[in-house]
Formats: sequence, structure tokens, C-alpha cells
Amino acid sequence: MKRAWLSLSLLCLPLTAAASAPLAEPVRGHGGMVASADTLAASVGVQVLREGGNAVDAAVATAFALAVTHPTAGNIGGGGFLVYRSASGEADAWDFREKAPAAASPEMFLKGGQYDSGRHHDSLLAVGVPGTVAGLHLAWSERGTRPWKKLLVPAIALARDGFVVSDGLARDLAEKLDAFAKHPPTLQQFSRDGKALAAGDRLKQADLARTLTRIAEQGPAGFYAGETARLIAAEMKRGGGLIDERDLLAYRAAKRTPVRGSYRGWEIVSMPPPSSGGTALVQILNILEGYDLAASGFGSALTVHRMSEAMRRAFADRARFLGDPDLNPDVPVARLTSKEHAAEQRATIDDGRASVSSPESFEWAAEPSHTTHFSVIDADGNAVALTFTLEDEYGVKRIVTGAGFLLNNEMGDFNAGPGLTDSTGLIGTPPNLASPGRRMLSSMTPTIAVRDGVVIAPGAAGGRRIINTVAQALVNVIDHGMNVQEAVDAPRIHHQWLPDHILAEDRALSADTQALLSARGHALKLGWDYSSRLQAVLRRPDGTLEGAYDRRSPDGATVSVSPPR
Ligand code: DON
Repeated sequence: MKRAWLSLSLLCLPLTAAASAPLAEPVRGHGGMVASADTLAASVGVQVLREGGNAVDAAVATAFALAVTHPTAGNIGGGGFLVYRSASGEADAWDFREKAPAAASPEMFLKGGQYDSGRHHDSLLAVGVPGTVAGLHLAWSERGTRPWKKLLVPAIALARDGFVVSDGLARDLAEKLDAFAKHPPTLQQFSRDGKALAAGDRLKQADLARTLTRIAEQGPAGFYAGETARLIAAEMKRGGGLIDERDLLAYRAAKRTPVRGSYRGWEIVSMPPPSSGGTALVQILNILEGYDLAASGFGSALTVHRMSEAMRRAFADRARFLGDPDLNPDVPVARLTSKEHAAEQRATIDDGRASVSSPESFEWAAEPSHTTHFSVIDADGNAVALTFTLEDEYGVKRIVTGAGFLLNNEMGDFNAGPGLTDSTGLIGTPPNLASPGRRMLSSMTPTIAVRDGVVIAPGAAGGRRIINTVAQALVNVIDHGMNVQEAVDAPRIHHQWLPDHILAEDRALSADTQALLSARGHALKLGWDYSSRLQAVLRRPDGTLEGAYDRRSPDGATVSVSPPR
């Protein structure tokens, strides 16, 4: 199925005159397309489109399939965001970010007055009340057209009957065996009697199939009440977690007004708080709009300098201002995303010299490494960008015994504790401290950009790198004339204010570019460890679809309903 409809013919003119012969071709098709980090899940979504479902129907089915076939990040035990734009231009954002349970407190990650990273990231205290099931159901109830139950059928079958483990998944699960072994039911689900599954083995998840069946039959009540809720609460009790049945019953997904911006005539629609993604993305693009990046060129020292200075400023504002809008009523999204704010910030950028991030410097915690993004565009041009996560790979690496799904460790996205900002990696600023019912700040940036009938829906995994990854995808297409596959493939850079350095993938910066950046005063950190994972689908006005998945991951796919005519 992978690259099934790959066509090497040039069907369409590039988006800008600057493009030259492509280095890579996107998958092309029509009648609907899904690009995902997982081939099986993408195929599930496309089947829904083939049967007449719309982009939201396909997204719901793809997301539930990912919870089975891509357990590192696909989930029902975590949360995420869905950004939607209809063909006629209406835009919605659904927030199904996890929430802190009622017993949470800003000091909950301290032990004996000292910060305890294990409590924050690696214990059942790190589990937020999951949002995925409520969010998918809310989006479906407002925009879906196919019966809910039907959308879960493929996921249930994949869990009950099993699926063939890919080489990538086998390697990934093998690496986690020791972590899974701390909780025997988890080891049992993801191994063969404690031995690593091999590529080609079949992975069956019977308890997960039963949980998905309850969700199919009862909707959110099949997760937030009854047997599933009892199983979650029991797991929490056994392992010292805080979530109880009342927290589960109280969980609600939220519909939010998307963040909107513009970039060189493109309309940008993205995720508002509790994600920082859309706000920071629009801020970065607004700053970059004042520069001729096409002229300075992809990967040049001047382009990388300007981009990293824009990123630095957006990330500084992110740390100062952003948090759950329901509990931080003054989150200044309108000001941060204004052209005036960008102009003020651009005026502080010196083309010849790197800025210095704040003197009361503090390091950011290391990025965890898993989340998953997929994009869907249907035959009518409705678009979905959906990013969801368990936070770390396989979340807290513990399934709910008897329910077969992994729990997130998203509470790790809250700040460590009040006033704990220091040079060792802790942050203690108020807008993102744990408190009852609060959603933790995210960087997930599902986005839809539109101009002259061209729609592009990108999004990524990669912690804070997500924001800059989506920004670079758009700049690559809009300024550098790349097609979507080239835009996904192109090496990426990252600056997040603190630590004060540019991270760059291998081959992102030539030796002389590095020298020019160093001469401006930038510290550089190079290596693939800093990668993110990007998926994107683009639709042209004639209905042609072009999709790209990130080849940095082993199991991705872009699948369309039909190959190009
Ligand atoms: O919501 C967030 O921003 C993080 N929990 C996402 C984590 C992530 O992307 C790890 N990924 N590869």
C-alpha cells in the first residue's frame, strides 16, 4: 500500500515560480487522501473516504486505528487536538488535551520539598485524565456523517484479530521491553511471553478490542463511565495515581476558536491554547513575513539566522504567557499573533548578530520522543489536521489492566513546581502549574493553510520542535517553492529561546554556513537526535491531492482514494 499511488509525472505547476526540478515527489491522488505515520491506520481512513465518509469521519477512524497499530503515540489513553477547515472556509478546533485530576496541586511533583522528576514524568502521578475519546466523539457529533459505531469497526478488528508487526514497530517494542516489564500486564500485551515480537508476528490486543467495543456501543460513556472507568480507577489506586471515577465522569472535550493568521497571502488556521502551537507558529510566520526568505535562500546562514531569531522570540513569549485558557483568562493570543507585535519583535533582530536569550537563563527539560500527526483532505476539500499523543513514547508505559490501552504521562508537560525555574532544567512559571482540572500546555500544532484555492494541512510530532517544524514546512512550500514531500524531507533547524542554541539535523547546515552562524554568535548543536516527524497533505484547486509522510519514521504512508487521473 505504501506509496501505492506514487506517480512520477509532473501533474501540476509548482506553487511558486522559484521551484526547480523536484528532488522528491509527493504521492499524488484524488478523491481524498490521508498521510499518517502508520500505513495501516492511513488505509483505514482512506477506506472511510472511499465509502463516502468525510474528512472528520476518516480522522476518527484513523485515530482509533492508530490507538491499535501505532501504540507509541496513537491512543485512547492520551489526548490531542483536531483542527478542521471546511471546503467553504469555516474553521473549528477541538481540544481533547488531558486534564489534571481534582487532587492535583502545583506541588505534586515535589517530594520532601525537592523536585522529583520520577513523580513528574514516570509514575501514575504523571497521568492526565485522557481526552481522546471525548474529543473524537465531539468532533464527530458536530461534523461527522457516518455512524460512530462503524468508524470503530476497523480498529476493533485490528485489535481483536491482530495485525502484522512491521520491522519498525518490532524494533521499537523491543527497545521498550525492560520498561514494560515493570508492569507484567503491559509486557504481556506487547511481547510474546516476555520475548520481543519479531517483524511478521501478529499482535493481538483482546482487552483493547473489548474496550473499543464498549466505546463503539456506548460512545464516551464506554470510556468515562462503567467498566472502563472502573478499570482505570483501579489501576490508579494500585499504582498510586490520582485519577478517580469522578475525574473521568467530569472530563469534557472543548471546542475552541482556532488561532488565525496570514503569511504572504496564505490564510493560516491553527490550534489555540492550551496548545502554544498555533500562537507561536503565527508569531514566527509574522516575523518572517518581513524578510525575503526566497532571496536569502533555503539553508543559508542569513535565512537560518532570521528563522532562529523569530523562533527564539516566539518561544520566549510562549514561556511567559501561555497556559490553559480556561484557568488563565488573560492569555494574550490576539496581541501575540498581531502583525504589530511581530514588527516590534523584528525590529529587535540584528542580521549580523545573534540575540542572547534572557540572562535569568534556564534550560528546558529534554524533549520526549513521541506523538503522532496525520492529515486528511476529502473529495470536497474539507481538511483535518490531527495531532495526538501519550507524551513520551508509550506514555507512562503502563496499560490499564483489563482494558488494554496505554496511559499517558502528559502531566509532565506541566511546569515542575512553583518558583522552580533554574538552570538544571526546571520551569516554575505560573500559567502552566498543575492544578485541578487544568490542561497542561502543549506544543502540538495541527494547522491548515489556504491561498487561492490551494489547501495545505501539515502537523508534526516532536515536542517543542513541532512548532518550528510546521513553520519550516510552510516556509519551504511558500518561500522556497518545494513540493510537500521536499518540504517534509528538507533538513530542519530548531531554536526554542532556551537553551540558547540552534539545533540542526545532520546536513541542515554546511560547514561554511555553520561558520557564518558561529560568527554571528550562535551556538550550534548538530545531530539527528533533534528530529521531528511531519506529515502533510496539499490540495490544488482542481482537486488533485499531494501528500507526504516523514521518511524519518519507518512505517508512514500517504494513501489516496484513487490515483491521479
Ligand atoms: O503536547 C506536547 O507538546 C507534548 N506532550 C508532545 C510530545 C511529543 O511531541 C513527543 N514527540 N515526538
